[in-house]
Amino acid sequence: MTKKPSKKVATKKSSGAGSSTIWGGRFDAGPSSLMEDINASIAFDKRLYAQDLAGSRAHTEMLAATGIISGADSKAILGGLDSIAQEIESGDFAFSAALEDIHMNIENRLSELIGDTAGRLHTARSRNDQVATDFRLWVRGAIDGLDGALMGLQETLISIAKTNAATIMPGFTHLQSAQPVTLGHHMLAYVEMFGRDRGRFMDARARLNECPLGSAALAGTSFPIDRKKTATALGFDRPMANSIDGVSDRDFAVEFLAAAAITSVHLSRIAEEIVLWSSVQFGFVQLSDAFSSGSSIMPQKRNPDAAELVRGKSGRVFGALNALLVQMKGLPLAYGKDMQEDKEPVFDAADTLAICIAAMNGMLAEASFDGTRMKAAAGAGFATATDLADWLVRELGLPFRRAHHVTGELVKLAEDKGCGLEELTLADMQAVEGDITKGVFDVLGVDNSVASRTSEGGTAPANVKAAAAAARKRYLS
Ligand code: ARG
Repeated sequence: MTKKPSKKVATKKSSGAGSSTIWGGRFDAGPSSLMEDINASIAFDKRLYAQDLAGSRAHTEMLAATGIISGADSKAILGGLDSIAQEIESGDFAFSAALEDIHMNIENRLSELIGDTAGRLHTARSRNDQVATDFRLWVRGAIDGLDGALMGLQETLISIAKTNAATIMPGFTHLQSAQPVTLGHHMLAYVEMFGRDRGRFMDARARLNECPLGSAALAGTSFPIDRKKTATALGFDRPMANSIDGVSDRDFAVEFLAAAAITSVHLSRIAEEIVLWSSVQFGFVQLSDAFSSGSSIMPQKRNPDAAELVRGKSGRVFGALNALLVQMKGLPLAYGKDMQEDKEPVFDAADTLAICIAAMNGMLAEASFDGTRMKAAAGAGFATATDLADWLVRELGLPFRRAHHVTGELVKLAEDKGCGLEELTLADMQAVEGDITKGVFDVLGVDNSVASRTSEGGTAPANVKAAAAAARKRYLS
């Protein structure tokens, strides 16, 4: 076996001074630089600074209200926290990897600003309940942001639907022309999907909105804290019922990522349709210049890069969900440092989803749909054959199987003549089924076909108009 050459590096001391001032009481030496590299989370968890400050303020006020710390100490701590907020927001705060994470960076700065009193802030608290609280607050904020963004996307889709309640396009199954539908109906399908996505985020929000603060390390605390007070101050519905659960679980983050993953599936499907529809072969839609890119070699190209990226980025969100599930599944209760790995996937998924929703919204808002091309394509491939079969059943009383067969023969006839079903003559029709009357032409052709689909949730323009108005009420108010 060859000896690992890294030993020397591994024992090198970190640049940080001696043993940690925060937890270093029983340590003689500081961490190795590699320990610092693997242990520090400040590079990413500084994003929790506002939540961490809010948690510390609520905790400080509670400690003073319960008499655990003095009013004067509370005032000093709150003043220090305000200064830190300003320093971070103005970019003057010096984040340090030697201080591991956002919690210790802030606490250390507090002690620089107000001296020993800073040490009272961490009374009856552990980083375990602190980080669980911060992260819940962050995910809650992310949910609220994404909900607003999804609502904006729904608004764009609903307005396209309203304008295009009667714009005919082919409806597909197996990506083969199936039956004509309207563009408005197709857009409203996505409005429903994004509506359920918003529902999933809101369900997750309702479950996550309990406060872990006061769970301390895992067992609770011997101090007479008031958990209801901190929970209320932070906008939580109530304190979490069990201190071990409070610091152990990250199911709220998993739920967030699951909802994000499903939303990404929906975004990816509409993105894929934009990619297809904007091709020369389909020609259903043209993206605005602002959402297209050219090719460096082929001057004629107009590429739907933003749609492709929305489709592609879904993979990152699925990966984030998978990463967190795997991180959590083997952890014994309560806290394990593995859980520090929960943040990056959640941050990345939230950022990815936000940019994808915004890009999709922008693309759709500026897209121009080609109603003429869509209508022509809707008529191709004998798309109203089902209407013909239904007419034979309804008007002539044929059993559906027989009607299906007769229609098949008529499709073959039209195919041989190189025309559409509606272009066959009555004599052509009667040669196949003698009882057919000229009334059949009322259901042939895409306009008639679409107008006849008046069943609840169907594609008739009148339905789509009403559905767009109903969706506006349901989702945008
Ligand atoms: N940075 C840590 C995390 O994100 C904070 C909690 C540390 N707790 C501890 N017992 N070491 O999980």
